Amino acid sequence: MEKKKVSLVILISGGGSNLQAIIDAIENNKLDAEIKTVISNKVSATGLDRAASADIESHVVDHQQFPNRRSFDRAMMNIIDPLKPDLVILAGFMRILSDEFIDHYQHCLINIHPSLLPKYKGLNTHQLAIDNHDAVHGASVHYVSHELDSGPVVIQAEVPVLDSDDKNSLASRVLEQEHKIYPMVIQMVAEGRLTFDGNQLNLDNKQLTKPLLWKNNKLSV
Ligand code: GRF
Repeated sequence: MEKKKVSLVILISGGGSNLQAIIDAIENNKLDAEIKTVISNKVSATGLDRAASADIESHVVDHQQFPNRRSFDRAMMNIIDPLKPDLVILAGFMRILSDEFIDHYQHCLINIHPSLLPKYKGLNTHQLAIDNHDAVHGASVHYVSHELDSGPVVIQAEVPVLDSDDKNSLASRVLEQEHKIYPMVIQMVAEGRLTFDGNQLNLDNKQLTKPLLWKNNKLSV
């Protein structure tokens, strides 16, 4: 019998390397998921080409064509809702979402952010880690709540900051780890191991009170 697949809608704005990591994990049978559609707010996003190459349907919802955030978000909801996805995945999606959108998908809206949250919400995280002489930097996968880059964190990938790092070298090492932890979290949902009721995160029927840690290619609780 075929395993149950978790169904995904993936929102992107740019390169879509996290989208690609999810596509690759599915193709390599490491992730029991199905991407129902990809939505980009930018027509130029190269992630759209990645979706096309994998034969995945995509939509452009250009935020510039809408008078306000609410109407833009509603246009996305009109695409997403008929598909009834198990998860809405923000993968390099660079728009702030309305409260209405966040409330609507509260139990199933996941984001990846390139910092060890709650440190460095917003943009320019890699430069901030360097400027502040942090010994470690990284990425977080979290359920989305109203405040920007907030909400319960499922996993963090730690990456050492090297003396020789500039923001680009650090960003590319962090991105490498993002590509590992995002499919990992989605697979936990697919296996029914990870649940979120809008309030509490549970992993393997126990409350997850602090993020899982992914470090040196090993997962620890
Ligand atoms: C990633 O660091 C992601 O976490 C951030 O945007 C960067 C690019 O992501 N939000 P992608 O290549 O478009 O997936």
